[in-house]
Amino acid sequence: MTDVLVRPASMSDLSAICAIEDDSFPSPYPRFLLQRLLQYHPETFLVAANEADLLVGYCVCSINDRTAHLISIAVQRNHRKRGVATALLDRLLAHLVERGVDEIWLEVSVNNREAIALYSKSGFARLNTIPTYYSNGSDALRMHLIITNAAAGLPRETDGNRS
Ligand SMILES: CC(C)(COP(=O)(O)OP(=O)(O)OC[C@H]1O[C@@H](n2cnc3c(N)ncnc32)[C@H](O)[C@@H]1OP(=O)(O)O)[C@@H](O)C(=O)NCCC(=O)NCCS
Repeated sequence: MTDVLVRPASMSDLSAICAIEDDSFPSPYPRFLLQRLLQYHPETFLVAANEADLLVGYCVCSINDRTAHLISIAVQRNHRKRGVATALLDRLLAHLVERGVDEIWLEVSVNNREAIALYSKSGFARLNTIPTYYSNGSDALRMHLIITNAAAGLPRETDGNRS
């Protein structure tokens, strides 16, 4: 496991986020779109920095009332398989608990074995496939998580009146 600090992103992180994005996806989001996402979702656009304060991953989700949607998550190639995405998701879910969000949805390519394993390990359930969801014609798997303290890795609430 890498020691990473997860924090809300700032505009000064944008170039590093774009570099992770370009390295991670065949059709990366352009810089202006990532900038918009950062403007619209400042509390739920998170970055992970390593010991040397280099950005090694990011995630972003939108919130609509009590429902969240994971828009993107990516980790720099040579920092994968060290728990960075898990740290990002844990922090995001903890924030969603604080915000009173009940559930989170996402879509992932049916061919993205690593990401499906990540989400399954984090408690997401597989729901249905969406044919030809992506521009390259591949299908998406829709996944869903009911958010609880346990899902966010937080201690359960206790009844303070019970002795
Ligand atoms: C998917 C991705 C974000 C995972 O990031 P990561 O930091 O490597 O993930 P973690 O180290 O936290 O791994 C958590 C779990 O995910 C699964 N996983 C991650 N990488 C995996 C791999 N290469 N093969 C199989 N399972 C994998 C495992 O279950 C792992 O738990 P384990 O280490 O106990 O086996 C990363 O591979 C990535 O950036 N991919 C490109 C972008 C992308 O596809 N994003 C998702 C879009 S929907």
